[in-house]
Amino acid sequence: MFNIIVLGPPGCGKGTQSNNITKKYGLTHISTGEILREEIELHTHIGRIVKTYIDKGSLVPDDIMMQKVFVSAVNLENSNGLLFDGFPRTILQAEYLDDILRIYDKKISLVFHLNVEENELYNRILHRSIDSKRSDDQLEIAKNRLKVYYKNTFPLIDYYLKQKKLKTISGMAEISEVFGKISSVIDDKINKTEK
Ligand code: AP5
Ligand code: MG
Repeated sequence: MFNIIVLGPPGCGKGTQSNNITKKYGLTHISTGEILREEIELHTHIGRIVKTYIDKGSLVPDDIMMQKVFVSAVNLENSNGLLFDGFPRTILQAEYLDDILRIYDKKISLVFHLNVEENELYNRILHRSIDSKRSDDQLEIAKNRLKVYYKNTFPLIDYYLKQKKLKTISGMAEISEVFGKISSVIDDKINKTEK
């Protein structure tokens, strides 16, 4: 199994690149943002709770997120691997993920950090807001999402650097160019693992 994390600020291209990676390498895409938006759309109890956080651009509490990811991850024994998009987002979530993977004798192989300039992040989010139905695709909320990212999620870069798993890729290029760089890192890693 080959398990990957894609992390980076809001609008950096996590979802876009995760879709490309999962299609090419046959991984299972676990997007916590998508999981939460589905709960909201279905008007579930959890959906009502998480909406209050998403609408402000704040993080949903760790205990809710860890439970959601546990349910998604343990049911996927037959997959080539898991791709986590938007999870973990706090050190606590990262430690939790390491712990549950260890229980199943699995680990994270690579962590991609997509680096994009602040203005470009807002341009992308506002451009998407024209036809997205996302309540958090508004400038003021996006600014809070970025603030929350730097406070809570940015420390994960150091966490995964210490584990020697982090690859920072510039996301300031065409989608296909960014994907080309990601693919060559994955291919390299697969080749080294097979040797
Ligand atoms: P989430 O859904 O994860 O949103 P996000 O991190 O804010 O990021 P986005 O989905 O907006 O952007 P992206 O990086 O996926 O980029 P995309 O590919 O879409 O989380 C939403 C909320 O849920 C959080 O704020 C939080 O409340 C909650 N949440 C989720 N996970 C949580 C967790 N683990 N813990 C706690 N709370 C959690 O691209 C953006 C746009 O740019 C698209 O239109 C795309 O077409 C375009 N684009 C992509 N790449 C390029 C490129 N190279 N050039 C030009 N345009 C591009
Ligand atoms: Mg996304």
